Amino acid sequence: MASLRLLLLLSLVAFINAKLGRQSESAIDELERYIQEKKAEINQRYRLHYHVSAPVGWINDPNGFSVYKGEYHLFYQFYPYDTVWGPMHWGHVVSPDLVNWQWLRTALLPEEEYCFSGSAVVDNDTLVLMYTAHIEDEDEDGFDQTQYLAFSDDGERFTKYEGNPVIPRPENGSPHFRDPKTWKHGDYWYTVIGARTIDDRGTVLLYRSPDLFDWEFLTDLGESDGTMGFMWECPDFFELAGKYVLLLSPEGVEPPPGGIYRSHITGYIIGSFNYTTYEFIPEVEFQELDYGHDFYAAQTTERDGKRYVVGWFNMWGVDHPENVDGWAGALTLIRELQLYGNRLLMKPVDDQVTLRQGSTNVTLQTNYGLSFDATGEMIVEGDLVQDIVLELTGNAGGQQVWLRWNSVTKIVSVDRGNGDVRQVDWTPIGSTSWRIFLDASTLELFCGEGEVVFSSRVYPDGGWLVFNRSVQPLQVTAFLLSRSIPV
Ligand code: FRU
Repeated sequence: MASLRLLLLLSLVAFINAKLGRQSESAIDELERYIQEKKAEINQRYRLHYHVSAPVGWINDPNGFSVYKGEYHLFYQFYPYDTVWGPMHWGHVVSPDLVNWQWLRTALLPEEEYCFSGSAVVDNDTLVLMYTAHIEDEDEDGFDQTQYLAFSDDGERFTKYEGNPVIPRPENGSPHFRDPKTWKHGDYWYTVIGARTIDDRGTVLLYRSPDLFDWEFLTDLGESDGTMGFMWECPDFFELAGKYVLLLSPEGVEPPPGGIYRSHITGYIIGSFNYTTYEFIPEVEFQELDYGHDFYAAQTTERDGKRYVVGWFNMWGVDHPENVDGWAGALTLIRELQLYGNRLLMKPVDDQVTLRQGSTNVTLQTNYGLSFDATGEMIVEGDLVQDIVLELTGNAGGQQVWLRWNSVTKIVSVDRGNGDVRQVDWTPIGSTSWRIFLDASTLELFCGEGEVVFSSRVYPDGGWLVFNRSVQPLQVTAFLLSRSIPV
């Protein structure tokens, strides 16, 4: 009898779990054990000390960037079982200050669906994830994309909603319908979703809901005229200093005359918007957010009136040299966004300085160098009337990169050699210094007040060596940086 009662109880629990769509906690426990074991095998040479990466395996887009119960939560597209893209999970990190991060247990496991990109909102005391379910099927498109919800009351264990999907794919739309970014305004929830029209143009669709479950389509916020790409991924939409910013990651944008074609870029359109007509009127054309080699699928969150952004610190279609080491991919430093005239400025968050350890002030003469361990930060000041050239490489060799200021063309560039250059013109609006962050395989260059930023992966062997290859001496303040994510 007792065993019958136990059996009944067990099947009741199983039934309740199924109704709630609860993910199997034991499957996540097993995955966490696998992660701990595999982590010990990682080759540490390029492993990052103060940037988020996966504990093992592959990551791409940042997801679910949010503030819950006083802490910052950040998720990411995660495939733990290999160092290339695979069936998507959501990995998860948490931080008190946007600088120090801890890994939490994996938040979402793929079941019938791959858990593609999405966002997180807080509804009362519940952290709600809204993400794209990518389901491979047999129909002519080969897959379907719809929007799912998952809930957590502790910020760590998530239950998928039994009534998923909450937004089916639009009738007469293409199956490319993904990456919901959700927020609340007044009494309603809103979400923007990236899509591709039937005739292969990128678009962003706006929906509204009173309760996160029932959604109505409102309008499209924008659409490619054909030159702006065939698919708009990872949209975000927010108010900043009285304007509205549509952030997006288009695929297939036409290069400017003489420019190189890049399959994926991330940028923004500034305009005006009102919640009565739902009309977004662009005022400034699409501009890139970050001019480096490796920045994509950026997502923002807001706290106390400040808007923070993070991007995937990699790119599609290129090699990820760390993937022979047991991991691949990272997220950029978190940056604060500010509106300045017709553009956005990006600055590392204020607390980033808490990682600084000791400082050196030097006048770096021509051909003199500075040596760092795996990490470093530099403030570099030169005379912009003359050229500036910094050469960076590893103490034991490895990849080289040159940072240049051309005083005639007013162009800043990040050059990884063999023509692998990113460049843009820079007109300082205040400070004329460069702030450079080095981690074991990343470089971030913030020019001036953040009007021009480059994020590029670079793979030096050993710690960093930085040489002044300019004709002029440079003033350099240098810091070692402490670790802010566990080994
Ligand atoms: C962008 C993206 C998203 C998608 C995810 C899948 O990098 O293609 O559109 O949701 O990656 O991992």
